[in-house]
Amino acid sequence: MPDKTFNVAVAGATGAVGNQMITCLEERNFPVKSIKFLASHRSAGRKLRFKGDTVVVEEMTEDSFKGVDIALFSAGGSTSKQFAPIAAESGCVVVDNSSQWRMDPEVPLVVPEVNPHAIAQYTKKGIIANPNCSTIQMVVPLKPIHQKFEIKRVVVSTYQAVSGTGKKAIDELFDQTRAILNFQESKNKVYPHRIAFNCLPHIDVFLDNGYSKEEVKMVNETRKILEDDSIGITATTVRVPVFYGHSESVNIETNKPISAAEVRALLEKEPGVVVVDDLEKNLYPLAIDAAGRDEIFVGRIRQDESIPNGINMWIVADNIRKGAATNAVQIAEVLAKEYL
Ligand code: A2P
Repeated sequence: MPDKTFNVAVAGATGAVGNQMITCLEERNFPVKSIKFLASHRSAGRKLRFKGDTVVVEEMTEDSFKGVDIALFSAGGSTSKQFAPIAAESGCVVVDNSSQWRMDPEVPLVVPEVNPHAIAQYTKKGIIANPNCSTIQMVVPLKPIHQKFEIKRVVVSTYQAVSGTGKKAIDELFDQTRAILNFQESKNKVYPHRIAFNCLPHIDVFLDNGYSKEEVKMVNETRKILEDDSIGITATTVRVPVFYGHSESVNIETNKPISAAEVRALLEKEPGVVVVDDLEKNLYPLAIDAAGRDEIFVGRIRQDESIPNGINMWIVADNIRKGAATNAVQIAEVLAKEYL
């Protein structure tokens, strides 16, 4: 038994990310003293398993957080907006997976491999934000490249799985695919267009400047996590008919001379990163291989021959694991070990 154990709550326990948070707490043997599963009134009374025990899901209310030390939230932005301050007021530290608090200057935005020191700022509001899934998998390989070669500009295009939208979107892709293969009419409720056998250049809402909110999140969050507002970033985010695993094409321009061999050597040493890059064997990162794994896979590392100092690469990770639940539990681990 570890020295310290904690009373933990998972808010949004019945959702795609919440469910994975439960699995991550189990798999990583987080020092849990007691566990509480919270969701909306719709799920109250549902039974979930934790380490062989049955835990009854409770409706989240203002009283849910009394006596809780750490609350992992993945219940949507408006729920976080309402309940995270209440939870923090009750004395627990919130690790929040929604976008609600990420750009708040008093809330640290953390990827433990990149900026674990930022966790210390949790005392300001009692909230730590978990970044956007596409941002997390990009900043981990970007960090050592930035340190060594000074990144000037990043151009990223994403190929994002439906699980990032939640359980209803997973069902929508499944139902549409089945309907089409059976020559039946397909319906779309979650997305504005059919996602099966299609690609939608539309993630989250569109803003006045013509970008989607997801694209703006990638820009702002990357700068906050790398603690450098001078990096130019532009993103195009696309939903593709994949269940689990986001893929990204990333073009990086640096101030210092850079080579593919140097980047490969650097990333091979980077904790949490696996380089998969053997073209003779047709080996490169794939969503189907990354699904169910916690590492970030990088491949197709090659020189951008159109500029003096540029690199192209392909980055893939499980968006529900490292892109959400695993990263949140890793933050909680540092918090538990070093701060509580
Ligand atoms: P519920 O299952 O009761 O609706 P996903 O992102 O996969 O759709 O999951 C969202 C999670 O957030 C679910 O666990 C959902 O619970 C929970 N949730 C949504 N709205 C609320 C709310 N108002 N209060 C508490 N939990 C909520």
